[in-house]
Amino acid sequence: MRFDILTLFPDMFTGPLTESILKRAQQAGVIEIALHNIRDFAPDRHRTTDDAPYGGGAGMVMKPVPLAASIGHVLAQYTTPPPVLLLSPDGQQFTQAHAAQLAQLPALVLVCGHYEGVDERVRETLISHELSIGDYVLTGGELAAMVVVDAVARLVAGVLDAASIHEESHTDGLLEYPHYTRPAVWEGQAVPPILLSGHHGEVAIWRRQQRLLRTLQRRPDMLTHAAAAGLLTPADRAFLATHGWPTPPAAAPAAPEPSL
Ligand SMILES: C[S@@+](CC[C@H](N)C(=O)[O-])C[C@H]1O[C@@H](n2cnc3c(N)ncnc32)[C@H](O)[C@@H]1O
Repeated sequence: MRFDILTLFPDMFTGPLTESILKRAQQAGVIEIALHNIRDFAPDRHRTTDDAPYGGGAGMVMKPVPLAASIGHVLAQYTTPPPVLLLSPDGQQFTQAHAAQLAQLPALVLVCGHYEGVDERVRETLISHELSIGDYVLTGGELAAMVVVDAVARLVAGVLDAASIHEESHTDGLLEYPHYTRPAVWEGQAVPPILLSGHHGEVAIWRRQQRLLRTLQRRPDMLTHAAAAGLLTPADRAFLATHGWPTPPAAAPAAPEPSL
């Protein structure tokens, strides 16, 4: 999968996208990340990319001409144009479901805003989708783009061992179970004995129950949605009931599947 990232600050991506798993995935040719400096597409000799907002007010707005030229340059490299995503705090909330959906694509273009944001006409004409990584405001879209690339890339086939993605938090409506490693006793705290038993079937049941319990304690809203989406077995429901889970009404609404 190829990611094209349009930014005014390409150097910000060194480190997060050039270390560890993403580094190895790029070296193996499973993913490709191309950085494009929007400033290179500014037509004037000062390479201006922002200007004062019409109507007055604080801050600067990213000019449409360099941005549109940079998007056009990237899209011209494709026979089938990939989606062009703008990172924006007023966009749709980015979720694991989006990441899974995007990981199926051969390519994705990410546009990083800066300053007060991007001229609205570019948003209306050249952007396919707008994503927010949370209800807070960053100085620019670069960190948000890195979050999206990281979350998507690790789901691209061949980047991680498929078993390590299985049963992860947010993949199937539940949070993940707790993990332990050596030593078996650390500072007087022992690992749950079931994990040392060698009974794979019982370990699987324990882990499922730990997922249910953790989700009940930390994200009961997720359990309501999992129940409505039919993701809980009768055994899950019985286990949860013994831990005080108030079975949701049959007509509880399923979480809307976010789609792009
Ligand atoms: C300072 S912000 C602009 C905020 C904008 N004036 C507003 O109030 O919605 C500059 C850029 O950072 C990025 N950004 C900020 N917060 C973000 C978030 N929560 N998710 C995704 N991108 C974000 C966007 O690309 C945005 O254009």
